[in-house]
Order: sequence, then C-alpha cells, then structure tokens
Amino acid sequence: MATIRIIHEDRTLSAPDEIRAFLQPFGIAYDCWPVAGRVDQDASAEEILQAYDPEVKALMARGGYITADVVEVTPQVPNLQAMLNRFNQEHRHAEDEIRFVVKGRGIFYIHPGELAGPLFCIEVGEGDLINVPAGTKHWFDLCADRTIRAIRLFREKAGWTPEYTGDDLASRYEPLCFGPRYLPGAERPRLQPLVKL
Ligand SMILES: [Fe+2]
Repeated sequence: MATIRIIHEDRTLSAPDEIRAFLQPFGIAYDCWPVAGRVDQDASAEEILQAYDPEVKALMARGGYITADVVEVTPQVPNLQAMLNRFNQEHRHAEDEIRFVVKGRGIFYIHPGELAGPLFCIEVGEGDLINVPAGTKHWFDLCADRTIRAIRLFREKAGWTPEYTGDDLASRYEPLCFGPRYLPGAERPRLQPLVKL
C-alpha cells in the first residue's frame, strides 16, 4: 500500500482515494491491484506477466506501450549501489515510468517545480501501480530491505534513459524509506507550498 508524504507540510496520505486525488493534478496515475492470491511473489517473470496479462494489455492499449518486463532488485545484485546511483539523483525521462510492484518497496520523490506544487514522495509496495509521466522531475531509491520486483512497461526502452537535471536536491534527503527528513546540516531547499485546487 502506498504512502504519500508532503515533506515540508508534514502531511501524510495513505488512503488510496486520497492518494489518487492528490496525484491527479500532477498527471501521476495510481492504482492498486491485488497480489496475494493472484500470483506468488517469487514466481518467474513469465508467470507474473501472465498473471497480470489482462491489466497489462489494457494499460498498453491505453498508453501506447509496446513491451513489458519484470525488474528484480535484491541486496545480492552485483554493484547494487552503482545501479541505484543512476536513479537516486534528480532526473526525468522521455517516456513514462510505470511500475507495478509485486514484492518489496521503493520510494519516488517527485519535484513538480515551484509553480506546480511542493516536493513530495510516494512510497510504493506490494500491489501498487504508479505512472510517473514523461518529463516529470523525480528520483527513486529502494527502502531498507533493498528489494523490489516490479512489472515495467515501455514505449521504447531507449526512452527510459535518465536525463539528469543537475539539481542536487536528492542529496538533501534521507535516501531510504526510514521517513524522509533532512540530513543533518542540509540546506533547506526553497519550495513553494502546495497549490490548493
Ligand atoms: Fe526515473
């Protein structure tokens, strides 16, 4: 189940309807699909894709995605930190970043920009589907267990290469899901308060 934290307003959202409503103005889609009783979290990638075939095909038809795969990250992955470092700095992509989490957890920090709203983060776990639209500034990190298995969808894999913004914002936040907070001595970024709609 996902949790949104609007860090500089000390607000936390955890009800799916609240999460959907909060994310909608940012163009971020959120949904929940059951995992328990549907597929074994440790099933093969093929079995996982097969289990969610109707939902994945529907997403593909709606969003124009052409491929789907299952990404798996565990603490045993060689050079894990180097891999995480590709995505834990602020970046954007030329195509959507879609993840359906089957196992484990991860955290997306979203930086809508000063005119659009405050920095916030979304912690996703088992059963959460999220779509971070192309062009959205964000970064991603794993949680303390450093484990995630997720279905990904792509229009073309080359489009998912990170384009770094060069902003060091990510370095000012706790990198794991221990509760986002400022690192000791970090300079507070200037961010606009939430735009009330
Ligand atoms: Fe990304």
